[in-house]
Amino acid sequence: MTNPAPDASRLQWRLLQEADLQSMYGLHLLSIAGMAAQAVKPETREFMLSLLQGRGRVIGAWHEDALVAYGVLQHDLLEHDDPRSLLGLTAAQPVCKLAGAAVDPGWRGQGLQRALIRRRMDCAPRDAALFATAAPCNLPSWHNLLACGFAVRALQYLYGGHARYLLALLPQEQAVSLRPEAEVCVELDNGELPQQQALLMQGWRGTAVGMAAGSLRLVTTVKGR
Ligand SMILES: CC(C)(COP(=O)(O)OP(=O)(O)OC[C@H]1O[C@@H](n2cnc3c(N)ncnc32)[C@H](O)[C@@H]1OP(=O)(O)O)[C@@H](O)C(=O)NCCC(=O)NCCS
Repeated sequence: MTNPAPDASRLQWRLLQEADLQSMYGLHLLSIAGMAAQAVKPETREFMLSLLQGRGRVIGAWHEDALVAYGVLQHDLLEHDDPRSLLGLTAAQPVCKLAGAAVDPGWRGQGLQRALIRRRMDCAPRDAALFATAAPCNLPSWHNLLACGFAVRALQYLYGGHARYLLALLPQEQAVSLRPEAEVCVELDNGELPQQQALLMQGWRGTAVGMAAGSLRLVTTVKGR
């Protein structure tokens, strides 16, 4: 007999405390098991402790006493993490990073990362620009961010040379739907990262999943209409 599908509507949501460190770290390790460093960055226990001690907030979904999903909202950023110049923002612009998420493999496919993204959007300061990084080969990660209104704004090579999209959602884009009209759009796949990077550097944005598996739909933006 097969086990019934887990029921996400019965999860308990709460902010994690320092005492939840082992649950959080254990779920992180479980969630990335078998994934290559090019797809996801392994985090240290110390980094997680620093988040729980005040560098950020961690929202968790619990089933009975087991943590099955979490998402990090980090406000205390290191200098090398600061996306403001890449996003054309001033130094005064508040920024928060969606700095990691994990869903227990047995609970995947139920929209839990999207729920975690929306919960973090709700608890971030209203004037904050939100950003996240995701490997182009980690499709669930950036697909979920796009579905919540984030756009790919840059392609960087981080953590020892691994490709990472920089995705962002700016405060004015959260308040009203001010999506710029698309003049031109193009879809480029995972094997065309240099072409994607060149367009992003010219101001194009990745706003949707493309038709071909793994591809990104990029659009130009129209300003001043
Ligand atoms: C990323 C992660 C949190 C997403 O978990 P989730 O919320 O259950 O996400 P889902 O499995 O429902 O996938 C989300 C979307 O990606 C799509 N997707 C999932 N796996 C896919 C694959 N192999 N190829 C293409 N699309 C895929 C799903 O179809 C879904 O899109 P849809 O609803 O439009 O169909 C989870 O995979 C995880 O814990 N991964 C390891 C840690 C990690 O990578 N964290 C993020 C970076 S820090």
